[in-house]
Amino acid sequence: MSAIKVRLFDAELKTPLIPASGVWGYGDEYDFVNNEFLGAFSTKGLSIKPREGNPVPRIAETECGVLNSVGLQNVGIKCFIEEKMPKIKDLGPKIIANFFGNTEEEYMDAARSLGAVKELFALEMNVSCPNIKTGGISFGQDPKMIEKLTSEVKKQSKKPLIVKLTPNVSNIPAIAKAAEEGGADAISLINTVRGMSIDIRTGKPSLATPIGGYSGKGIKPIAVRAVYETAKAVKIPIIGMGGIYTAEDVVEFMMAGASAVQIGSAVFSDPNICETIAKDLRLYCQENKIKDLSSIVGKAL
Ligand SMILES: Cc1cc2nc3c(=O)[nH]c(=O)nc-3n(C[C@H](O)[C@H](O)[C@H](O)COP(=O)(O)O)c2cc1C
Repeated sequence: MSAIKVRLFDAELKTPLIPASGVWGYGDEYDFVNNEFLGAFSTKGLSIKPREGNPVPRIAETECGVLNSVGLQNVGIKCFIEEKMPKIKDLGPKIIANFFGNTEEEYMDAARSLGAVKELFALEMNVSCPNIKTGGISFGQDPKMIEKLTSEVKKQSKKPLIVKLTPNVSNIPAIAKAAEEGGADAISLINTVRGMSIDIRTGKPSLATPIGGYSGKGIKPIAVRAVYETAKAVKIPIIGMGGIYTAEDVVEFMMAGASAVQIGSAVFSDPNICETIAKDLRLYCQENKIKDLSSIVGKAL
């Protein structure tokens, strides 16, 4: 597998493939999957207090992807550390803890608690959440807010900090740059795209919320564009995601500037998809005489 190894921060990932936050639970439910093919995995978004999430229905299939309004349901950081970590710490893949808050203080508390867990590889800060102190504008929509939040959170732990951006803004590179200036070690993107659908038999929205986040095949061009634009704006590594289902998709994201990728909705159709993608990536390297997959990062820039 040596051709498809990648480096992230000071570590080597066996493959560039990372199951994305929200599709891999806490890593303990996928015991039937061969972990050999995962570079890392990202946990379900964690908050200081447990959350029940939104009312159902909160998942709806569409022609080219999935709408969800799970509402960041999670067991809370204390339970994650005490009950989930012992089960996942020796699985093999590196563990990225995804977290969020509704205030700057909640983000800082979360980063401090997770930052103290020695087996965690990195923290991934989801900034697509409303800041309840500023009337609900999402942290990820305002460069000033992002720079300050990143720099405060960065002080709470020594772990590499990945800032995960929302695509629901007009200028993603400006937000990415602000995160970099705040001290982010990497950017991951994209989170889901705001969307909705209507069940024409009932005349009602498919989701109870009724607007949710759209993911899967349909968002890939939006995600590739976001990675490409961001790669031109920042020097820190980028972890790309959004509609990745095949090795060709991974190559496309890497050529756009991603050093590693996350696999989200594709896992719902095939939990073993990372194994298939990794094997196909290896073939791609053989066929194209590529000794080190990282050599294609940013080729399209
Ligand atoms: C059901 C579901 C739950 C998700 N939960 C989270 C979450 O808790 N935190 C987060 O940062 N992203 C979450 N995401 C977003 C994914 O990690 C990813 O950014 C997005 O789905 C785009 O990738 P994809 O098109 O490969 O699915 C969730 C996505 C889905 C489909």
